[in-house]
Amino acid sequence: MRVTFNANGRQVEADDVWEGESLLFLLRERLGLPGSKNACEQGECGSCTVYLDGAPVCSCLVAAGQVQGREVRTVEGLADAETGLDPVQQAFIDAGAVQCGFCTPGLLVQTHDLLAREPQPSDNDIREALSGNLCRCTGYEKIMDAVRLASARTCSTSEVSQ
Ligand code: FES
Ligand code: FES
Repeated sequence: MRVTFNANGRQVEADDVWEGESLLFLLRERLGLPGSKNACEQGECGSCTVYLDGAPVCSCLVAAGQVQGREVRTVEGLADAETGLDPVQQAFIDAGAVQCGFCTPGLLVQTHDLLAREPQPSDNDIREALSGNLCRCTGYEKIMDAVRLASARTCSTSEVSQ
């Protein structure tokens, strides 16, 4: 089947999509968007998280055919061509929250979603929002630091611009 959808703001299409093909496979192997990572392919680790119509989903659990006519935003789509990295992406770098980086794309999308809903999350809010994202390297403290940093920067920027 042919699947046509919006990926990071542009219309894309893929031919000969097979029945069991996942959105993750489609993004990585056909559309040249390898940012989302395949770590478990079972919905357990969160490394493949992308936005689907504005809500975070595990792209390994979404059938490619389900995204027909819908909007997908991947970790690549968080950055802006003019302004550069999203504040969440920059905060992860600055806080040292990226080691092997395999979990990072999913964490970035989940954090981006959390801060859009709750710009000043408590530590419990952060833990709850990221509870589906596994990291084997950092021990999570650097990730907590990164989310706090992104929150602080985002809030101070919006205070200045008000
Ligand atoms: S690869 Fe999708 S949840 Fe692990
Ligand atoms: S940085 Fe390696 S799994 Fe998280």
